[in-house]
Amino acid sequence: MTTPVTIDFTHIDLDVLGQTDGALAVLVPPDAKLDRAARRLNRLTRGALVRLLENPAWEKITPGDGLSIGYPAGMAAKALHVVKVPRQPDLENARKAGATLAGMMGADPLMLVAGSTRRINDVALGLLLKSYAFLPHKTRENDNTPKPVQIMAADPEAATNALTPTMAVAEGVFFTRDLVNEPANVLTTDEFAARLADMRALGMDVEVLEEDHLTSLGMGALLGVGQGSDNPSKIVVMHWNGGGDDAPLALIGKGVVFDTGGISLKPANGMEEMTMDMGGAGVVAGVMRTLALRKARANVVGVVGLVENMPDARAQRPGDVVTSMKGDTIEVINTDAEGRLVLADVMWYTQDRFAPSAMLDLATLTGAIIIGLGHENAGVFSNNDTLCDAFLRAAHSEGEGAWRLPMGQAYDDMLKSRIADIRNVSSGRAAGSITAAQFLGRFVKDGTPWIHIDIAGVAFMSKATTLSPKGATGWGVMAIDRLVRDRYETVD
Ligand code: BES
Ligand code: ZN
Ligand code: ZN
Repeated sequence: MTTPVTIDFTHIDLDVLGQTDGALAVLVPPDAKLDRAARRLNRLTRGALVRLLENPAWEKITPGDGLSIGYPAGMAAKALHVVKVPRQPDLENARKAGATLAGMMGADPLMLVAGSTRRINDVALGLLLKSYAFLPHKTRENDNTPKPVQIMAADPEAATNALTPTMAVAEGVFFTRDLVNEPANVLTTDEFAARLADMRALGMDVEVLEEDHLTSLGMGALLGVGQGSDNPSKIVVMHWNGGGDDAPLALIGKGVVFDTGGISLKPANGMEEMTMDMGGAGVVAGVMRTLALRKARANVVGVVGLVENMPDARAQRPGDVVTSMKGDTIEVINTDAEGRLVLADVMWYTQDRFAPSAMLDLATLTGAIIIGLGHENAGVFSNNDTLCDAFLRAAHSEGEGAWRLPMGQAYDDMLKSRIADIRNVSSGRAAGSITAAQFLGRFVKDGTPWIHIDIAGVAFMSKATTLSPKGATGWGVMAIDRLVRDRYETVD
């Protein structure tokens, strides 16, 4: 697993600044007022810091961005990085400043002089998240030994106390990114289940349900998707019970380890990206890891359906009718609309077994959500305004884009089947993401507050974002962790 760099908070010690090798960095507010440590750095560099701050380039950069002085005279450091941050930054600027530092420090250890700047753990989190690199398959640039970071802060004890939840979030996001980046020949359904089972070491209950068990539960919808693959279909149940006897919050994930489209085969161009079609299961796994690492006082169950959608002599055909665990029959018009078939059975199973207080499902479900919202926002659908608003607020505070779309009977009517209870796609392309949500809604029990989150556009990006490199983003781990903190955690 890719591990985040180590972070240590220490007291401010002006006497070591001149001798520190590696990279040095300092946070300076937009008004360029220097604190004691920054004044010492200015003296050591014989005024170079102030000259930089008087340069129009300093004026031009936005909060969270920075400038560098290379090989500063009078210091042992290779570089002095200067990042513009208000003394009381908002969460976004604090994390952006950390991300900027991750880009600037390169392969060097870093000493950051943070002084009394607030939200120093968010600066650390931004640095951790942006320094992620997926290297297990690189044989030539595999120096992934994490570079230690030392942060000199006014109150290192407080920052150190807050480091456990910060690292827990970073490790959860890294876990999601590693799973989503991993190619499908490595991350088979067996391998995926094994990596989840490893979380038993963190005190989590993990159960793996194999195909014969799923057959006896009557999961014809999920099993139909996987029947063309040599890799066995599975459900993995991860249970973190830090919250006593409360009904659990349920997190459900689509875990299609590769989506060829099946007999309704996808075009070759871009098909390789369908290795990320387990992104929903990846986010659920990442959140569960974060909750376990920070010993959340909440009862949360994560349930993921792991299948591979392949064309084969045994694969399901367009026109096949399958029977879901719920008992509803489904006409499979298009074998490429497979995620909803998997989720239907996982959601029903979870409600049947756990009677959750609320249920969130995450899925790279439709290409249509990318047409509608691009890569900036996940699509959110819900039967419960209170829960939905709480989630949207959590996502917003964590800087993770999420936008609600409507549902309604007229969309549901578009899924009428001639021969079965429902068909898996509507006849045209209109409102493709909404009809997908409507399909899932048929498998939500009356009275279960539910949110469906379509992450097809945000789970994996072809360009770097503020906090992640190209590829898997880990979108949603922070939003859901925040939702748990705000709404499901018991406090003394
Ligand atoms: N896994 C895809 C959705 C997807 C598309 C995820 C692009 C990430 C990026 C899903 O299983 C799928 O193929 N959906 C079809 C549904 C259609 C057949 C109704 C789609 O979106 O084209
Ligand atoms: Zn598909
Ligand atoms: Zn899919």
